[in-house]
Amino acid sequence: MAAIIVVGTQWGDEGKGKIVDIYAGEADIIARFQGGNNAGHTLVVEGEQTILHLIPSGILHNGKTCILGNGMVINPKVLIREIDELQERHIFPSDTKLFISTNAHIIMPYHMRVDLAREARMGKSKIGTTGRGIGPAYEDKMSRVGIRLCDLLDDRIFREKLSKNIEEKNFYLTEFCKEEPVDSDAIYTEYKAYADRLREYAANTSLLIDEGLRSGKHILFEGAQGCHLDIDHGTFPFVTSSNTVAGSACCGSGIGPTRIDGVVGICKAYTTRVGSGPFVTELTDEIGEKIQNIGHEFGATTGRKRRCGWLDMVLVKQSVRVSGITGIALTKLDVLTGINPLKICVGYTTDHEEFTEVVPSNLNVFEQCRPLYEQFEGWTEDISHIRDFDELPAAVKRYVSRLEELAGVPVVLTSVGPDRDETIITQNPFDMKQ
Ligand code: GDP
Ligand code: IMO
Ligand code: MG
Repeated sequence: MAAIIVVGTQWGDEGKGKIVDIYAGEADIIARFQGGNNAGHTLVVEGEQTILHLIPSGILHNGKTCILGNGMVINPKVLIREIDELQERHIFPSDTKLFISTNAHIIMPYHMRVDLAREARMGKSKIGTTGRGIGPAYEDKMSRVGIRLCDLLDDRIFREKLSKNIEEKNFYLTEFCKEEPVDSDAIYTEYKAYADRLREYAANTSLLIDEGLRSGKHILFEGAQGCHLDIDHGTFPFVTSSNTVAGSACCGSGIGPTRIDGVVGICKAYTTRVGSGPFVTELTDEIGEKIQNIGHEFGATTGRKRRCGWLDMVLVKQSVRVSGITGIALTKLDVLTGINPLKICVGYTTDHEEFTEVVPSNLNVFEQCRPLYEQFEGWTEDISHIRDFDELPAAVKRYVSRLEELAGVPVVLTSVGPDRDETIITQNPFDMKQ
């Protein structure tokens, strides 16, 4: 029995989907604990690609329990579409079970409308959100007016909450945003149908996870986004609206921190970011373009081009600290093949200060930071067929070894291609129990 959390160590899109799919082979329960369909997690099995936005990345395996935890914000329309698509493609195994926490909050049409209207008003200073209504849905949760799955499933409560919410949202949309109001009756009818569809999946998922742990099962918690998109620990305000760090797995699934055995931080061999915000190691030259092209760095949710840059170890060190990471899964190392020299950022400098351990909280200071680089010899050999770490070229090993030294934790998995098979596993996370 072991409980392992997987989180992103950068600004999202590190390859969490691929790694969770691999670890899910050994897990019994796979649970998402925060975020919503702002996430886009890509799985490639024998060349066939699946992109998941809400359903945990364990779904392709037989006999698993997949959970959407209470910390998530769920768009029922998107979830139903995702379930239908997987079933149509015959990749939702009949003996794999799906459960949704009755405490999870529901994304409503007015959340998306408010998200988009606000971004449009902000112009150049916009966050660059995914436009999925994530921020407004979490706002309603925190201001205690949000609609949870259990509320949606109770007709009287749903009707009451919806009408109160719509009164306020329509005032905001029409008076402040100068937009059209939303139609209460249409939303009621649409969401009643979703309630009927989702009722069979509703459960107390905290209890299910607890029962799993008590009966000796392996639990895998799948983070979305990355540590630097965390609402508390990220590059505020250019962040998402949930806690993305490992601690969030406990609150977002309803189990205590004493039950966790290890945390795997997913780290891309370089850095990417979608949306706005400072990016110290960003490459706006032909190397950045090369990484973008070879790495197919397009958002799995919005299709936007991802900004690319050198590996930034200040970001990763902070993630190791804040999430208590015990091992790193290093992804997309193959994308760096043929780039020479390579650089790793080991610190930031401004005219006044140096930073090696922390990302400055003050946005003005962060914007002024210039990278301090160490340079590494690149490699030209194709590494995508290698399955034994010792067989990697010496230059690759030097790059990985410096990363491990700076992070202060070992690399437990190295990913050399998008497919499930293109992976070198050096340590099994379920054996990481201290
Ligand atoms: P997530 O949001 O963290 O799950 O990551 P995304 O799925 O949004 O983005 C990661 C992208 O990189 C996907 O297209 C994956 O198929 C791909 N990928 C994952 N690992 C590797 C790897 O080691 N090498 C290459 N070339 N692609 C990878
Ligand atoms: P996965 O799980 C990368 C970014 C958005 C934007 C900011 C706020 O696939 O790694 P939001 O819609 O959440 O309010 O947008 O966060 N963002 C992501 N970037 N990967 C993600 O998820 C992201 N989810 C949100 O681009 O900058
Ligand atoms: Mg993604």
